[in-house]
Amino acid sequence: MRTIEWRDGVVLTINQLKLPHETEILELRTCGDVAEAIKTMKIRGAPVIGVAAAYALALTAHHSKAKNREELLMELERAAEILRATRPTAVNLFWAIERVLGKAKKMHDDVRELASAIISEAITLAEEDVAANRKIGMHGATMMEDGDTVLTHCNAGALATVDYGTALGVIRAAVEQGKRVRVIATETRPKLQGARLTTYELKRDGIPVTLIADTMVGYVMYRRMVDKVIVGADRIVNDAVINKIGTYQIAVLAKIHEIPFYVAAPKSTFDINRTSAEVVIEERSPEEVTCIGRERIAPEGVDVFNPAFDITPLEYVTAIICEDGILYKEDIDKIKRKH
Ligand code: MRU
Repeated sequence: MRTIEWRDGVVLTINQLKLPHETEILELRTCGDVAEAIKTMKIRGAPVIGVAAAYALALTAHHSKAKNREELLMELERAAEILRATRPTAVNLFWAIERVLGKAKKMHDDVRELASAIISEAITLAEEDVAANRKIGMHGATMMEDGDTVLTHCNAGALATVDYGTALGVIRAAVEQGKRVRVIATETRPKLQGARLTTYELKRDGIPVTLIADTMVGYVMYRRMVDKVIVGADRIVNDAVINKIGTYQIAVLAKIHEIPFYVAAPKSTFDINRTSAEVVIEERSPEEVTCIGRERIAPEGVDVFNPAFDITPLEYVTAIICEDGILYKEDIDKIKRKH
């Protein structure tokens, strides 16, 4: 199945906390269920968080007993507030909420028609995500050469999107074209999305993958074991790419070793009117760092800093691959000037 699906008034999704050992399908029936799943990272990855939020508004509309348009709009606003408070960094969440709410506000139909339009908009958004990923894959695959070893960080695969993935979509597309591509996946402490999810997806697809600890990136680059780096993004701002913690140090190492550093992301991840200084970087619980799984590894009472994302200035990014094509610095500057 896809990572997330709408089925007759229920949202089905894979519980990403249980992978790779168990494939548990969650049945989410209310906006609160979806918000909890996003907050606890049962659903994670910028594009799928956005689609989940859109489906949460669809659930609100589907189950609403509102007697008129105004009542339904108020319920949707309340649901949107709950969703906005789940995770602060990935812009796709806010983008999807605004898109669905914007559609609802523009419509003046009767309450039932309004509810079904909201559900259709959420389903459209999910379909667009898959289509965008396919295009990202197609554009990005032109940058991959037969025999490449590509390093990726975190999970920007099918599980982080509705299907196919962004960074892993590029790798999948290259492999579909017959190119032999090997992947090095970083484990991605503290939540281990690379070790648990990226390796799971690639192994399932028969794409060769080697897992390394985050601390080994410099060594594999020094030993010339990496031809390219490709990662996803949670938000692309005026001056930087914001992505999973650890991305920045990989980008700096890639530059020093003259290895191209690509970012693959749909346009729903672009927030070009903002600078990195304006973005809230999520900080998560200390236990994610003091423990590995359920086992505590650090002494009680130690101070912990646990930012979930970091900021990679655009000067470290070779190109951004989006559904419209490959954007180099000049193209990004042009987009910036338009805003
Ligand atoms: O904290 P997460 O797992 O939601 O963070 C995910 C990432 O940082 C991904 O790289 C990003 O969302 C891009 S996914 C296509």
